[in-house]
Amino acid sequence: MALPRTTQNTTAKKTSPITLCAIICLALIVLVGLAILITWLAIKPKKIQYSVDEGWIRDYNLNNSHLTSTFNFVIRTYNPNNKASIYYDKMDVKVYYRGQTVSSDGILPFHQPKKNVTRLMYQNTIKDVMLSSDSAQHLKLERTGGQVDLDIKIKAKIRFKVGLLKTRHYKLKVLCSPVVVNFPNDKRFQKTDCDVDY
Ligand SMILES: *[C@@H]1O[C@H](CO)[C@@H](O)[C@H](O)[C@H]1NC(C)=O
Ligand SMILES: *[C@@H]1O[C@H](CO)[C@@H](O)[C@H](O)[C@H]1NC(C)=O
Repeated sequence: MALPRTTQNTTAKKTSPITLCAIICLALIVLVGLAILITWLAIKPKKIQYSVDEGWIRDYNLNNSHLTSTFNFVIRTYNPNNKASIYYDKMDVKVYYRGQTVSSDGILPFHQPKKNVTRLMYQNTIKDVMLSSDSAQHLKLERTGGQVDLDIKIKAKIRFKVGLLKTRHYKLKVLCSPVVVNFPNDKRFQKTDCDVDY
């Protein structure tokens, strides 16, 4: 009351643009945050699932430490999301025996729709791949015993598509271990569930 009106006005004019800006900025941040949260809750991304459903080896030949054979796997991938489809822009599959890569191949890019199961056929022939003498001996024993323990690792670059929006690339890593392949091939294959990470 004691203050002259003019002084009050000047003070108000000086602080208000800054305060207003801060309030608007804060409101915008909260709104954007809320929008992201609501979208996230609406989509609720669920983990992609992987398993190896079939596996067999043909034309097996181990000559000294040199392995020749054809690897066949049916890899099953399930996209459990009903709002997001997946673009696989790049995918590499590697087969390991006792930590050593024995076979590897790329899978052509593909698009996986929502709630979709896709079976990927992996077939790769290797010729005279050199194993360590230790692994070669182990493989001989396993083969005689009727089953070989392998590991399969998959690396992929994926994007999710939600509505019209595509997300950034994610690095997908899949580990299927152990994948037990039978010799001879008439025994039932034991399906292997894989660990998925991205
Ligand atoms: C095994 O390898 C040797 C050379 O390392 C080759 O001379 C021979 O023909 C191979 N045998 C078979 C059955 O492939
Ligand atoms: C999954 O998607 C692929 C590619 O679009 C399609 O060929 C396949 O039939 C779909 N599978 C199922 C079970 O709908």
